[in-house]
Order: sequence, then structure tokens, then C-alpha cells
Amino acid sequence: MAKNIIYVRLETKSSTLRETLGQIINSTEGFRLRGAEDTDPFDLLILELGQDVEHEFQIVQSFTSLGTVREIFLTSGQQDPTILLRALREGIKEFFPQPINEQEVRQALDNFRQRRDLEKESKRVERIGKIINVAPSKGGGGNTTIAVNLAVELAQLNKRRSVALVDMNLLFGEVPLFLDIRPSFHWGEVARNITRLDAMFLMSVLHRHSSGIYVLPAPSELNGNHYLSPDIAENLLGLMKSIFDYTVIDSGLATDDIAIRVIELSDTVLVTSILSVPCLTNLNRISRLLHDLGLTSDDSVKLVVNRDLKDSHISIKDAEESVRMKVSWRVPNDFVTTMSAINQGKSLYEVSMNSPVARAIRQIAQDLSGEKIEEKKGSFLNRIFKRS
Ligand SMILES: Nc1ncnc2c1ncn2[C@@H]1O[C@H](COP(=O)(O)OP(=O)(O)OP(=O)(O)O)[C@@H](O)[C@H]1O
Ligand SMILES: [Mg+2]
Repeated sequence: MAKNIIYVRLETKSSTLRETLGQIINSTEGFRLRGAEDTDPFDLLILELGQDVEHEFQIVQSFTSLGTVREIFLTSGQQDPTILLRALREGIKEFFPQPINEQEVRQALDNFRQRRDLEKESKRVERIGKIINVAPSKGGGGNTTIAVNLAVELAQLNKRRSVALVDMNLLFGEVPLFLDIRPSFHWGEVARNITRLDAMFLMSVLHRHSSGIYVLPAPSELNGNHYLSPDIAENLLGLMKSIFDYTVIDSGLATDDIAIRVIELSDTVLVTSILSVPCLTNLNRISRLLHDLGLTSDDSVKLVVNRDLKDSHISIKDAEESVRMKVSWRVPNDFVTTMSAINQGKSLYEVSMNSPVARAIRQIAQDLSGEKIEEKKGSFLNRIFKRS
């Protein structure tokens, strides 16, 4: 981005409004409009609220909480005071009623520039997040359980960290079931609209779960037109890294070139397995594949034994020797708690945060992030002062 130029992205319903605002922006010194097809970052988003106000406010919240854009201005043709009130609550600095008053918009742009100049020293830092790829050695071993709960635990550890969860089980992804969400979009939209893939588009397709994580589910039915390719996966994950501190992936079996590209792009691959002969046999193959991909460092590949039993027929030592990998974490066997969480569509944190299985996954989150559970929150006033 050229220094000092303020880039503005317009998301309007009507083309007349787009034209009016575009002219004002382009004729204001120091401001430039980003085209709808331009996927480069922008400083200011001007969003027109339409019929689906709830969804649009969700986008606003996502942008504000992630800090991917400096400010958002809203405009609406509706004269509904509750919308204005909501905008104020969301921290929106400017709201333009329609028809647009040119003077008002110019003044708002000028105010924005002044605020930006004041904040110049504390420049926004481009985020370079981590991709944590949770990959199974075999189906049914609890990969989704670990991926979903790891994402939730990472978000709980530090509320200031942003966490996304991507379901890469190209079909039959179960993340929405695990979290009891009915998302409107899935990565099929990303694949179809790859030329428009930017922060704005991504935030409009991600589903924000009540735990604070952002979810990108897999398509639930095979109706063509949304095939992912390794390049699309790479673009998507590159963008996610620039927005989220952690992107957790619930991967399918590493059987195709997409899964392999995703492995290559991951900062950490957490291979999940249970201590059974079929799983360990597969794990051996995966271990060889990772070796061939040059992923041999202890930091980038970690083994998680799930459904760990004290009296297992296969010992950890035997398993480690047979697959030539160290076991980094052991998640205890607890069918009742995991199943109860799945059946209720809740995380283990919500269902039984102190159960050994929840604690074990929390430990993985702590070790990967280097963060401990936040201290109990202080008084209301303390929190307010800390925030400002
Ligand atoms: N630590 C655990 N202890 C006991 N049961 C578990 C544990 N983790 C997961 N399970 C159970 O294993 C079953 C499969 O879990 P999950 O769907 O997470 O596995 P998966 O590897 O994602 O399966 P798939 O290959 O179908 O995607 C569920 O019934 C779940 O309750
Ligand atoms: Mg699964």
C-alpha cells in the first residue's frame, strides 16, 4: 500500500450510491477507492446496510474485533433509530443517513484522517498467524473432537487472540454438528469466488460461533461447482494467516494433493491416532509421507494419542518405536463426555471444562500457544481501564 494514501472499500446495495460515494472519495485528497475486484487490504470500509441487518452487523463485529480494517462507516436508507443505536454500540464512528449529504461525508473522511494521523506511531501490524493442521491417521479416531475443542480452547486461553476453524473434510464435514451451528456458507463459496477472495469476502462467509471462533465448514452435499484445488487452498490459508492468530484445520486423510499442500502450508501438523494396529500401520505411512515432504522437525509434526487407556495392549513406548515418532500428548479415553458434547453440539469446555479429556486438549492449546489460562477477570472498572 502506498504510504499515506487511505484506501476505502465500498460495499453498497445500489450502484447510484456507489457512484456518489466513489466520486466523493476519489476527489478527496489522500483517499482512494479500492475496486470490488481489488483484493488488496483497505483502511476504511463503508458498508450500506440492507435487509439482512443482523448478518451485516456480524460482519461489522468480525472486522472490528479482528482489527483487519481501521474503521467502518455505515449508511442506511432505513430511518430506524434502533439501527443507529446498534451502530453506536458497535463503535461505528460515522453513520450516513440517505440521501447522502456530500459535506457530511467529506467531513467524516477528514475526521478519519485526523484520527489516523494521531495513531500513526501505533501502526497496525500485519498479522502472521499460525496454521495448526489436525490430521487423522485413520477415520473415526477422534480427529474432529480434537480439532474443534483445540480451536475453542485456544480462543478461551486468550480472548484477544483470534481463532478460525476450517473443515477440510471435503465432504461430510461434521464441524457444524459438533458446534450446533447452521452456517449459510462453506468453503465451496470460497472456491467459486476465488477471484474475489479478500478479507471482506472471507468475513462474510465465516460463521462466528458463540465461543468466539470463526468457522468455515465443508459443503454438506455434493452438487458440483465447488471443487477445491491446492492453489485455492493456498490462497485461502494465506489470507487466513493474515487475519487470524490461529487457523485450526480439521483435515481429512492425507490422500490427495490438496491435503498434501495443506500439510506443506501448516506451521504444525498434529497427527491424531489411537493405539490400535490399523491406526499405527497408517501412521507409519503418514510418517513416511511427512518425511518425504521434508517435515521431520519435532516442532512441525506432533503426535497426539487419543482415547488413551492406562491398560492399553500397545504401550506408548512400543507405538513410538514402531512409527518412529514421539508422542507429544495423550488425550484420555472418555466416551461419555465426548459423546455428550457431540450430541449436544457443544464444546468440551462448555459441557465439562474440568474433565480430564477437556484438560488434556487445553494442555495442547497451552503448549502450542505458550499461553496459560487467563487469570480470573478483575473488577468491572479494572477491565474497563485495561481495555482503554
Ligand atoms: N478421547 C476420547 N475418548 C473416547 N471417545 C472419543 C474420544 N475422542 C473422540 N471420541 C469418540 O470417537 C467418535 C469419533 O469421533 P470424531 O468424529 O471426532 O472422529 P473423527 O476422526 O473426526 O471421525 P471421522 O473419520 O468420521 O471424521 C465419537 O463418538 C467420539 O465421541
Ligand atoms: Mg471427523
